[in-house]
Amino acid sequence: MKALIAAGGHATRLRPITWTRNKHLIPLANHPMLWYVIKKITEAGIKEIIINVNPGEIQMMRDGLGDGSEFGAHIHYLEQRGGAMGIAHAVANAEEHLRGERFLFFLGDNIILGGINHLVDRFENEQLDCLIALSRVKDPHRFGVPVFDDAGKLIRMVEKPKDPPSPFAVTGIYFFDQTYFEVFKTTKPSARGEYEIADVISWYIANGKTGHEEITGWWKDTGTPDANILQ
Ligand code: DAU
Repeated sequence: MKALIAAGGHATRLRPITWTRNKHLIPLANHPMLWYVIKKITEAGIKEIIINVNPGEIQMMRDGLGDGSEFGAHIHYLEQRGGAMGIAHAVANAEEHLRGERFLFFLGDNIILGGINHLVDRFENEQLDCLIALSRVKDPHRFGVPVFDDAGKLIRMVEKPKDPPSPFAVTGIYFFDQTYFEVFKTTKPSARGEYEIADVISWYIANGKTGHEEITGWWKDTGTPDANILQ
């Protein structure tokens, strides 16, 4: 299995420190933030990694993170053509590297304490088409949120709803099969002008074999200053 990491975007919520540096290179306990993501992925046995970066940032990212040999892995840096057009677009942008593959998609600003081995195993053992990881949070309106029916069945995903339909965030750890690229072609940019992963996942929930798993350990989206206050 290959993994794609999203490490582009404008990081406006972390300015001023992101004026001069991609947020995924901000150090966290002596390593760039993205180092921890690469570590979790390689510890789960995935050694082929593609990192999606903003146009013009390949050198900066390679200087900060290397070629993967430190992790016994191979890292390929890929510019997001057209820039940060949404995380669903970042995956579509990597199609030529992921075509025919089942893959892990990891948002580079997500930090977890536990491992992801059990998620990889479940996706493969049950031959799921899509697997999403959930985390119970106090402020689901800041995230993608899963919607369940009265019987507790997952029926769709909504992005940053004003009135969250459940107490969970969809974390930035997703698994997809190769149908992704066909599904993406049916999506359109949202009101905020981005291709939303929620639209692709809602398609999978309606049409594919989709699993969901709660992460019960520590999980953080480090995209805002508040989120980085240790609790
Ligand atoms: O962290 C989990 C949340 O991440 C999910 O609950 C949401 O459903 C999902 O949309 C996402 O929301 P964010 O508002 O946190 O997304 P953000 O714009 O911060 O981008 C997430 C990561 O993807 C971040 O590491 C930057 C990168 N990125 C973002 C965009 C828009 C790209 O590489 N390319 C892009 O075009």
